[in-house]
Amino acid sequence: MGNLKKSIEKALNNQINEEAYASHFYLAMAYWCDSQALNGCKRFFERQSEEERQHMLKFYEYVSESNGTPITPTLAKPPQDFKSINSLFEHVLKQEQKVTASINKIMALAYKESDFATVQFLHWFVEEQREEEALIQSILDRINIIGGGGQSLYYIDKEIDKINMAELAKDTAGEA
Ligand SMILES: [Fe+2]
Ligand SMILES: [Fe+2]
Repeated sequence: MGNLKKSIEKALNNQINEEAYASHFYLAMAYWCDSQALNGCKRFFERQSEEERQHMLKFYEYVSESNGTPITPTLAKPPQDFKSINSLFEHVLKQEQKVTASINKIMALAYKESDFATVQFLHWFVEEQREEEALIQSILDRINIIGGGGQSLYYIDKEIDKINMAELAKDTAGEA
């Protein structure tokens, strides 16, 4: 693969930071869920955290293969206390929307610079972000249907555990 333009390399390194932060944030969420005895949610966020780490590694590989230098970022401390399960998933949606915006920005830059290898590489992430946002939105919809309160939390946790199992099954089928 060819050499990356400096502006593209910088944007890709910024994305390493974004994905690493997402991984970090979801880990914090997993242990907030743990503290609330929401074990299904904990497993959901552990898997999400691992998935973001895999995204981060894809950027490392791509930058390195393209004769660039992937930069290991210093991470900001994510929030680790949340008001409710609803508020937690609102944070997740905002986080994913931020990542989508960031991917779109690099895509626009890659087109502007006629860097079609990077355009091609980013296509996978465009689809991934569409799926992620749809998944989180569907979880928020379900939480709203089930409603708040102690008993509801029990059902929400079960629902999210089911979703987590379905996502794990997709991963092992190679559709990660
Ligand atoms: Fe990601
Ligand atoms: Fe994500």
